[in-house]
Amino acid sequence: MSSIVVTGGVPLRGSLRIPGAKNAVLPILAATLLAKAPVRLLDCPRLADVANMLEILRRLGCDTQWEGDELIVDPTNAHCYVMPESLSKELRSSIFLLGPVLARFGRAVVTYPGGCEIGLRPIDLHLSGLRALNVRISEAFGRILCDGSALRGADIRLDYPSVGATENVMMAAVAAPGLTRIHNAAREPEICDLQNFLCALGYKIRGAGTKTICIEGGRPEMREITYRIMPDRINAGTFLCAAAITGGDVTLYNVQPRHITCALEKLREAACELDVRENAVRIVAPKRPREIALIETLPHPGFPTDMQALFFSLCTIASGTSVIVENVFENRFKHVPELVRMGAMVTVRDRTAVIHGVERLTGASVCARDLRGGAALVLAGLRAQGCTTVANAEHIDRGYEMFEMRLAQLGAEVRRADDGMTYERR
Ligand code: UD1
Repeated sequence: MSSIVVTGGVPLRGSLRIPGAKNAVLPILAATLLAKAPVRLLDCPRLADVANMLEILRRLGCDTQWEGDELIVDPTNAHCYVMPESLSKELRSSIFLLGPVLARFGRAVVTYPGGCEIGLRPIDLHLSGLRALNVRISEAFGRILCDGSALRGADIRLDYPSVGATENVMMAAVAAPGLTRIHNAAREPEICDLQNFLCALGYKIRGAGTKTICIEGGRPEMREITYRIMPDRINAGTFLCAAAITGGDVTLYNVQPRHITCALEKLREAACELDVRENAVRIVAPKRPREIALIETLPHPGFPTDMQALFFSLCTIASGTSVIVENVFENRFKHVPELVRMGAMVTVRDRTAVIHGVERLTGASVCARDLRGGAALVLAGLRAQGCTTVANAEHIDRGYEMFEMRLAQLGAEVRRADDGMTYERR
């Protein structure tokens, strides 16, 4: 168990480079199974979830190796189509392997995936998409057995634009003879990154970023490729909120501003000044942010659910009342009771939270219940009077590389406490 300990009150200042995106690299790592030669990935973040995915790939027979900041995955000798149960339970993204394993071996065995407990997170859309590609699916002893020996292209309409289901179907469809069209596909930027990666491998896919993605199945000639992972838009949003909540002045590099349009709009509404460049954003925040009238999470291009908790923390100290509606996941207000312990004034009914901004939060011992909620508590701690200890920091490590070190780089007073031992990271 480890905690992050923050002493609030320091406005963040300075600059940071944003790393590659967790939500892009996880499906891309799964898609390396669709390569027949080594793949070199640049800007791959070193996260707990990435380590977990690499362990699963190794169990399937892939070689993986870090060379400095570059990650090399060689899928040439992959031979196993059964996903290791214990690891899959840890990592929801293990479900992404279903599509590529089916494409490569014609069959797959998986367990129901784990990950953040932010809602029911079923996989019915993944399975119905695969069934449409003529995969026969049965369940036994908690395992999902898939026979994809007769894959064929199809027209598939997703009932909801699920990110994971869209990616899974894309990866299975590359090996399905004929044309596959995914209608009502998710439009998140990470879907475009996956498409770019698959195209770099030689597969024929187009339409990512729109509601319809077309895939022409086939087995292309392959060569070794090097691919740079897109910047992490949620990390960018996190550090912008960290600057905003502390009344700071921070410049972020390796940011794609068009990926975070909604977040930038809301920060402007909170009275932050933004200087938006091609690959960088500078934020100069007021001493106290203005309230944000309404944040409603929605599939892309709407406001991302992964930034909800971070903006929630910002709203707790705004000068007026803000409203946040969580439409994507049904259980994503777990940070609220913890924020209330720090003095936040919030009322929640169903999926709607009304946040009355208070002048000051006070430090407290709180607990990270999920990844983004955990990061949001650290942000609240940056603003709170006194010391805040955020327990269960392992949740945060799933999605942020050296979170406290990056905050310390911007001047935050923050340290990690591990197994009873506390050490400074400033
Ligand atoms: C991905 C992201 C996650 C983000 C989410 C929404 C990764 C690794 N994770 O998760 O950080 O919060 O997108 O932007 O990329 N659903 C079903 N049936 C399914 C699949 C999903 O009902 O088969 C529901 C989910 O319960 C949820 C909603 O659809 O309520 C959105 O889920 P989805 O878009 O699939 O999210 P993930 O791919 O799990």
